[in-house]
Parts: sequence; structure tokens; C-alpha cells
Amino acid sequence: MFVDSHCHLAFPELSARIDEIRAAMAAAQVDRALCICTTLEEFESVHALATRFDNFWATAGVHPDNEGVREPSLDDLLALAALPRVLAIGETGLDYYRLNGRSVADMAWQRERFRVHIRAALATALPLVVHTRSASADTLAILKDEGAEAPGGVFHCFTETDAVARAALDLGFYISFSGILTFKTAADLREVARFVPLDRCLIETDSPYLAPVPYRGKVNSPAYVPFVARQIAELKGLSVETVAQATTANFERLFKPVAAQSVTNGS
Ligand code: NI
Repeated sequence: MFVDSHCHLAFPELSARIDEIRAAMAAAQVDRALCICTTLEEFESVHALATRFDNFWATAGVHPDNEGVREPSLDDLLALAALPRVLAIGETGLDYYRLNGRSVADMAWQRERFRVHIRAALATALPLVVHTRSASADTLAILKDEGAEAPGGVFHCFTETDAVARAALDLGFYISFSGILTFKTAADLREVARFVPLDRCLIETDSPYLAPVPYRGKVNSPAYVPFVARQIAELKGLSVETVAQATTANFERLFKPVAAQSVTNGS
């Protein structure tokens, strides 16, 4: 019924408990999850989840915050994107939140990394999973400059303004809301969620981080994604079932999980 469009199940705090998490997902009617890659080093374990379980899929990419890791070339990303069960390029994007004494000009390496990911998405026609923090103007400008409307994608874990949401929607992107939407302090974000059309919304946990209320501060898991759907339903005056169905249909339209090669062993 529900799909978690963004989680980090290869992170040790979750991968060590995968059977327990899968049981919790089943109990919460969370049928599917997209496992997000954040380094080339991590890809193999992310992909292993997607080949082991037929309701998990994987992405290929290097998160903008990751430094001191292998820098992905276009060929690296194309090779990983060609593997079965890989549905998207990312997560990628820009993050100027922790500059650690550097200027935005010093982050040229991050912008170049982002461009390489967009080129991989264009070459493969796979959607982009975009992370943006304190960098929305550059994120939008680079997406436009590279012609990213064609592969499209999602602005994940959205925390930006309604103006940024509108610009992302104009580019043809989806907007994914996380547990942040349930936080007491997120009144502005709830206003954004109110206006984003339901047929452009996705839901995610970004687990193990950002557990929604009433689990805020605990280790998050895909089983908690219904709390995000509930919050959207409340904001839009809809039933949870309607939000679940719409966000699932959006996930299928954007990521095309049915078209991906299936695996031999069931879940
Ligand atoms: Ni993430």
C-alpha cells in the first residue's frame, strides 16, 4: 500500500536488522522501498538488498556531502545504472550547509559531481534523486543548464520554500516529503505540502534519520513512512488511502519499478 521512496537500508544501523525491518514494513503495509546509494564504495551493499528482495530497488550515485570517497566518473555511473534493479541516479545535488570554512566558490567540485550525475541520468533516461540544502538556486540553475527536465526526478526530503517547490514542479520534478513534515517546527513546510499537487508528491523516510513524530529522535525505518502519508492526508483533507494510492502511483510513474528486471527469489 505505501512505498518508501528514499531510505538508506545499507547503513549499518539498518542492514544489521533487515529481517526485523522487513517484518515491521509488512505489518505497516509498506510494500516497497527504494534503497539509496551515497558512495560508490557502498553501492554493492545497496544493490545486494535490491537483488536479494524483490520489493527493494537501488539507485547509483554519490551524495554531495561525501568527501574523501571515490569520485564517480560518467562511466562509473553508467556501468552501475545498467545493472538490473537500478531505478535512478543519486542521491546527488548540492549542499552548502556545512561549508567548514570554505566559500561557495570553493564547492566547484560538488557542482561538477552533480553535473556528472545529471549527464548519467540523461544518457540512461533514469530519473534523478536530488538532495539540496542551502543551495537551491544553484541546484535549479544546474538542472536547467544540463537539460534535466528530460530524465526528471525528485527533490527528496524537501525542506525548501514554496518558490523552490514551484520551480522544481515547473522543471517537471516530483517533491518528496519526509518525517520532517510531522515536526512541530515545520509549519512552513506543511504549507508547501498543502499546495504541491498530490500527483507530484512522493513520501519517504530517509531512514535511518529523521524519524517522524511520534518516533522523533529514534532510529527511523521504512515502516514509519505511513506517518508522512497521514500528515499529507490531514493537510489536504484526504484519506490516508488516497494519499497512499497516489504516492504509490507517482512512484511507479517516475521510477518504473515494474519495468526493471525482476529477481529470482521472492521476498
Ligand atoms: Ni538520503
